[in-house]
Amino acid sequence: MPYRTIIEPFRIHTVEPIDFPTAEERRVALERSGYNLFGLHADEVTIDLLTDSGTGAMSTSQWAGMMQGDESYAGSRSFYRFRDAVTGVTGLAHVIPTHQGRAAERILFATAVSEGDVVPNNTHFDTTRANVEFQGAEARDLVVEESHDRSSDYPFKGNMDVERLEATIAEVGRDRIPMVMLTVTNNSGGGQPVSLANMREVRRVCDEHEIPFFLDACRFAENAWFIKTREPGQEHRTPREIAREMFSLVDGATMSAKKDGMSNIGGFLAMNDGELAEECRNLLILTEGFPTYGGLAGYDLEAVARGIEEALDEEYLRYRIRSTAYLADKVDRAGIPILKPPGGHAVYLDAAAMLPHIPPSEFPAQALACALYLEGGVRGVEIGSVMFGKRLDDGTEVPAKSELVRLAVPRRTYTQSHIDYVGEVMIAVAERADDLVGLRMVHQARWLRHFTARFEPID
Ligand code: F0G
Repeated sequence: MPYRTIIEPFRIHTVEPIDFPTAEERRVALERSGYNLFGLHADEVTIDLLTDSGTGAMSTSQWAGMMQGDESYAGSRSFYRFRDAVTGVTGLAHVIPTHQGRAAERILFATAVSEGDVVPNNTHFDTTRANVEFQGAEARDLVVEESHDRSSDYPFKGNMDVERLEATIAEVGRDRIPMVMLTVTNNSGGGQPVSLANMREVRRVCDEHEIPFFLDACRFAENAWFIKTREPGQEHRTPREIAREMFSLVDGATMSAKKDGMSNIGGFLAMNDGELAEECRNLLILTEGFPTYGGLAGYDLEAVARGIEEALDEEYLRYRIRSTAYLADKVDRAGIPILKPPGGHAVYLDAAAMLPHIPPSEFPAQALACALYLEGGVRGVEIGSVMFGKRLDDGTEVPAKSELVRLAVPRRTYTQSHIDYVGEVMIAVAERADDLVGLRMVHQARWLRHFTARFEPID
């Protein structure tokens, strides 16, 4: 290509104003929120990188499709378009719509997972872990060692450690392993991709022990792009062909369409086993809705049907992955420690390396996330001991393996100058890193404590 700049493969059609709270307003808002950024009101945030989930911009085609939403309770035309789009991309036989990813998880695990089971995954996302644990089962993370080396440039840090998978099967026995999962890309492990070679290996092990294999497919298109650009022999294939092979290696998938479904809401559970699908549909009716809408409006089904195709567009994916890397390059050049290589949907700041004076028990990543907000109204999310640590009955804290702040980039939403601004805010915070103080957790809930925990700064 003759030009270096990878441009946004769209122009802006509708604009949404953003807010500019003052430094004093941000201070007051953060205090009111108990130093938890989930407690902020959206108009107290300038650049919102809390999540890439449901926060992207939809296309003209998606909005047009929504006008054709068929709101029939049973047999909606929109469902069949949705089903055909999902089957077209995945090849999976049975498609069950859900209102978002965690509903698919809950239905799948409630149907297939029992107390005392062990579910291996590269790294469970927080809702996935919580839904496994809610069944009384163990969610076991078996990501490759390279994943834990922040500066290693290993191209597929989301891969599963197949030897540890085999050791786990030998240890607990296949009867207690209802399924093996792989999260693509590996969100909680830094948005890192899984290679086709690794998926084939996991398939081989699952075949050997007759264990079903599922994908947590939220960011399947971004994973397909990494395979295309990093895995030898894959460069000439389209993201769609690669995605099709990824899905051909599994028995089923859970999906949050709020990510690579390019929609503001939606998800699905898809699988080849007809009997399991039947059981899942029965549970779906109980809590989500009839199987041809699954908790979604007809117009949501239309948005996902179009979005899942748009996510596989090469121009889009080139821009998408580059725009995340652009932010990573900026902060890396400033000497700020980040997870490398950058993930598909997010840049992960290494708060433990940046704030060595704050111990895990004082939540360095939470402190860093708060500082970014105070500095420039930028909202990220802690992925560290608040999210994955545990408080034991005696009050001691078991820390997480890493202390990260994730800056997730919503799809097709922010421009390059927004990202330049975020880079400047991060650099300003890094310059006064030594002055940041830790936090004390003063309130926490039993499940998924990071959403509602409250903190106080430690003097
Ligand atoms: N699996 C992964 C890998 C995810 O990243 C998410 C959501 C889910 C499952 C659950 O999907 O939100 O539609 O119920 N991740 C969002 C995030 C919330 O910010 O990373 P959901």
